Amino acid sequence: MKDANSPHTAHEHQRDSFGSSFGVLVALAGSAVGLGNLWRFPYLVGENGGAAFILIYLGFVLLIGLPILISEFIIGRRSQAAARGAFRKLAPDGRWHVAGSLAVLCCTLILSFYSVVGGWGIEYLIKAFRFDFSSGNTPGMATMFSDFATSTTGPLICHTVFLGVTGLIVIMGVKNGIEKFSKVMMPLLFVIMIGLAVRSLTLPGAKEGIDYLFRPDWSKVTSGTFLAALGQAFFSLSLGSGMVITYGSYVKKKENIVKIGTETAVADTLFALIAGCAIMPAVFAFGISPGEGPGLVFTTLPYIFSQLPAGGVVAILFFLALLLAALTSSISVLEVIVAFTIEEFHLKRKGAVALCLGVIWVLGALCSLSLGVLGDFKVFGKNIFDLFDFASANVLMLIGGLLVVLFVGWKLGRSVIHDELTNSGGLKIPVWLLDTILFLIRFLAPAAIAVIAIFQWI
Ligand code: PFF
Repeated sequence: MKDANSPHTAHEHQRDSFGSSFGVLVALAGSAVGLGNLWRFPYLVGENGGAAFILIYLGFVLLIGLPILISEFIIGRRSQAAARGAFRKLAPDGRWHVAGSLAVLCCTLILSFYSVVGGWGIEYLIKAFRFDFSSGNTPGMATMFSDFATSTTGPLICHTVFLGVTGLIVIMGVKNGIEKFSKVMMPLLFVIMIGLAVRSLTLPGAKEGIDYLFRPDWSKVTSGTFLAALGQAFFSLSLGSGMVITYGSYVKKKENIVKIGTETAVADTLFALIAGCAIMPAVFAFGISPGEGPGLVFTTLPYIFSQLPAGGVVAILFFLALLLAALTSSISVLEVIVAFTIEEFHLKRKGAVALCLGVIWVLGALCSLSLGVLGDFKVFGKNIFDLFDFASANVLMLIGGLLVVLFVGWKLGRSVIHDELTNSGGLKIPVWLLDTILFLIRFLAPAAIAVIAIFQWI
């Protein structure tokens, strides 16, 4: 076996990889930008008082999210291996590979419920094409949504289609599937979102929504705000889930990790803010409370679409954007599990995809049914859907992120970080920047995650 810390191994040459720097960026940004931005971020902003939450979120992205992202990138690119294999390669003698297994478990849970919500996106896109949002009242929209989400067949069919499309893209591989799809879809998504934001920001009465997004009211901040903001930063940047490790393992040595990592975080944050601008001004313009919770996108927005001039077209564009964003993310979650399966069980890509889809289909079906016929089945007081959401976003991602920064900061250490961030001396990165990143990886990020996790769990 070659030196475990060696950046190059024989394996590297047989692996699929991204074709260009732009491809890496759109794939990473595609993973980060998803339901987290279009569905979760707006309702969390609404529930947690607007601008103050956003500022705390931005601070977390910069000080905690970015160092974790860079750390995962280092692990992936240096090892050129999937989540579990990466730890095993870089630290063959320890038990660090358990961190990789946790990441794969985390992705399995995420994709199970993510695919159900993605399926709702398909149903709502179809509804938008049929101009179904014309009943013009919020109770009507709420009933429409809960009738659908709690039913059996419809959501299962949509879950199957969503997962099937995700699988088809992943079967095509990293360069020909994931990269190609993201390269076309991300710019399209950007254009649609900008159009939607302009529409919303130019509504009469939009100003109140803009104030809500950009004028902080610190009196609304509680300890829960910090938890929600950190959880969202993790979820939105796809951290602690092995995604950046896996995508990082398809990245060539010449890419600049700090640059691509920062661009990914900026793109993700920008998309979240644009989604906020597309949703909040419209919510205020129609005199609706922003704190509607998770139903915001599926109940409040359809009502707004029904009231808006040309709302039918806006609805189609919005749910199309939601679906594209969800797909560029779901392929990344599936890739983590598939790459692991290929490597650990020596399967071909097609077989690995089929196996993973089978498992996730069953778990996703349970998530979907737990909102309806299996609603009485509870674990720790939560139905399966909420349990998977909580266990992944609030527990496993935090543990994964913590292990990643501890591993890179303390096990790999300064010289490896330096070597990876400068591409073995080929890139000039100012010493103060390297030292700051090292400090964040070693001290600030682990301490912040530990404090917030402890508050969260007790
Ligand atoms: N970041 C995605 C979103 O905001 O919707 C969710 C996600 C994707 C989480 C990929 C984890 C992951 F590995």
